[in-house]
Amino acid sequence: MTSFLLPEEPITSFDEWVDTGVGGRGVEAARRLGAEATIEEISRSGLRGRGGGGFPTGRKWAGIAGDPSARKYLVVNGAEGEPGTFKDRALLRANPYQVVEGLVIAAFAIGADEVYVGLKASFEREIEALTRAVQEFQNAGACTTCTVNIVGGPDEYLFGEEKALLEVIEGKPPLPRWFPPYEQGLFAVGPQEGWEAAPRAGGASGTPSPNPTLVNNVETLANVAHILVRGVDWFRSMGTDESPGNIVATVVGDVVAPDVGEVEIGTPLGAVIDAVGSGPLPGRSVKAVFSGVANPVLTASQLDTPVSYEGFRDAGSSMGAAGFIVYDDSACMVAAAHRLSRFLSVESCGQCPPCKLGSGAITARLERIESGEGDVDDIAAVHGWLGRVTDGSRCYLATEEQVMVNSVLVAFPEEFAEHLDQHACPRPSTSPVPKLVDLADGVATYDERYWSKQPDWTYAD
Ligand SMILES: Cc1cc2nc3c(=O)[nH]c(=O)nc-3n(C[C@H](O)[C@H](O)[C@H](O)COP(=O)(O)O)c2cc1C
Repeated sequence: MTSFLLPEEPITSFDEWVDTGVGGRGVEAARRLGAEATIEEISRSGLRGRGGGGFPTGRKWAGIAGDPSARKYLVVNGAEGEPGTFKDRALLRANPYQVVEGLVIAAFAIGADEVYVGLKASFEREIEALTRAVQEFQNAGACTTCTVNIVGGPDEYLFGEEKALLEVIEGKPPLPRWFPPYEQGLFAVGPQEGWEAAPRAGGASGTPSPNPTLVNNVETLANVAHILVRGVDWFRSMGTDESPGNIVATVVGDVVAPDVGEVEIGTPLGAVIDAVGSGPLPGRSVKAVFSGVANPVLTASQLDTPVSYEGFRDAGSSMGAAGFIVYDDSACMVAAAHRLSRFLSVESCGQCPPCKLGSGAITARLERIESGEGDVDDIAAVHGWLGRVTDGSRCYLATEEQVMVNSVLVAFPEEFAEHLDQHACPRPSTSPVPKLVDLADGVATYDERYWSKQPDWTYAD
């Protein structure tokens, strides 16, 4: 397998990046091809967004490029808030230059006036690496006219949701707006609902404009220069027809050595857990794997699922951002569902009452069941709320709660029955939500304060 996204040794200067044979040549190739043909190349490569949704990157670029609006923006999503995911930080540590080159190419291709990169303010090391890389690009003349603004955002999960990300860049809290970034972009002017009587105010350009905005994940953009320089056939020689290329996977939880690693798309899930996380602990076997907190759980019998968009889809789940949280046979799946549900419930912003109230109620019922106090009414209440939690929701978080909790109920009914019958948890566990603050040398560091975070986003301690 060819590793190209995560070099063995970190790339620490623009010159080193140029020495790889790709650095600087990606931008040159884009200028030579022109914007339209650059987008065509990215479309033909089959690159899909690595932020979780897997949307075809070329199609996204073409949509913004073809919009007649006067002003456009590119936003790079480096918020990396999905539990069990560390790949964007690993990429920025290993080679921030390929991300900067990718954003320069994307901005050129869609005709963006300005670029914003959103990272959590707590990602100090990555902000520093990226800031230096942008500076070096500018000094080298590889991005003389581009304005790149690096914005440090809050630790909340919703900061990474693209509609909330734009709010944060505009200086507001991470509360998702209604419309997607290609319809209501950065600094777009109102009215947004179309019924206000007041005349439209001038936008950043002085004229009313929706300012269509392209949002792409860090890893998505990290692929771009490689594709333009090495070619579509090279990229398509890796991965699968529907999901070409490699993916940077994170493996945490009940494994020997949690880590981040680049794997070819299509590699079976069990092999990824072995290759990246060094496999389950001695004497243990994998019971369940979650891809972040956003998708249905996969069970031991599904470890041959190819790590690809279509492989996970066919298995009834979704690959997400390829951050795999592994539970072994000693784990309690009611506890897992409770903790992951609590995460989503706390992180729900509360703009959509069924999401905040429903995920809170589901979490409380799961807590009762886990502790042994639960009964069939609790199970019924969870099912009831799962049917309503997504009502009127403006973002995908409520759906995450719905599909994740439902999948655990379906995959592990006997564990729920055991808790009701025994009035106790048969496998007490304290495994935390893997909200990663660091991942290096086989050691995952989780946010220890997280358990004390309250539904109003304050901390109890
Ligand atoms: C609750 C929630 C949290 C998200 N967090 C992130 C994140 O931390 N990083 C990210 O790149 N995308 C995140 N996304 C996905 C983004 O909304 C968006 O789809 C992505 O940045 C698009 O980039 P891509 O096409 O390159 O994948 C999140 C989505 C949701 C619903």
